[in-house]
Amino acid sequence: MFYSVHEILGWNIMALLPYDGAMIPGLRKFHEPSATFHYAKRDIVIRQNWNQLGVAAVVWDAAIVLCTYLELGTIQLQDRTVIELGAGTGLVGIVAALLGADVTVTDREVALQFLESNLQENIPPDLRAKARARELNWGVNLDQFDPGSYDVVLGADVVYLEEAFPALLETLEYLSSEQTTILLSCRIRYERDQNFLQMLGSRFVVEKVHYDTEKDVHVYKAQKRLAKEDL
Ligand SMILES: C[S@@+](CC[C@H](N)C(=O)[O-])C[C@H]1O[C@@H](n2cnc3c(N)ncnc32)[C@H](O)[C@@H]1O
Repeated sequence: MFYSVHEILGWNIMALLPYDGAMIPGLRKFHEPSATFHYAKRDIVIRQNWNQLGVAAVVWDAAIVLCTYLELGTIQLQDRTVIELGAGTGLVGIVAALLGADVTVTDREVALQFLESNLQENIPPDLRAKARARELNWGVNLDQFDPGSYDVVLGADVVYLEEAFPALLETLEYLSSEQTTILLSCRIRYERDQNFLQMLGSRFVVEKVHYDTEKDVHVYKAQKRLAKEDL
């Protein structure tokens, strides 16, 4: 029987089972100190640190699929304001910046220094002023950010913690206007993930725009429903 990384590392299971992740084939890549990618005509070397920071310090397949989707150019990024939620290593935000966007990558406080170091190492000096890392804990102190002011909101593999779904939804609503494009990439692992998409659909028009069969990762586009649709 095969288990996906998340099934092995399912947050509940992880707390219970002693394991050496480096010995499990699907997990070996998480134990590499770095991972190299090529997007926007550049090599991007992302540092990883699973042992210290866990899920926030490794590159998930959903990030790779979202970067590939961004590179297709379906969503205009040049000179657009972009915010990434749960950015982890920052790969997606880095690619968005290399594609011309003004990018704010966000995560929990504990992940920020690591995120910032990946930005420093991969964003060339001429683009440096257009990329920054900031703390954003979903649903917390949202007034530190301008409401509805982003053109694009990105999230790779952020749909996995059921208890965080209401706060994640609140954050998406706060940051976006009716003109904002939200792109979320995720693997649908459990029924609860599907439930989140339904919650999202109650506030946003949601459309699946991409599916990577090899990685089993979907990309969903969401756009705030027009106020009159609520009537
Ligand atoms: C599975 S990782 C995905 C990381 C990265 N986006 C990627 O795909 O490689 C989930 C990310 O969400 C972040 N996260 C989890 N709960 C959060 C919360 N309540 N507020 C902000 N970020 C959160 C974690 O710190 C982590 O970086």
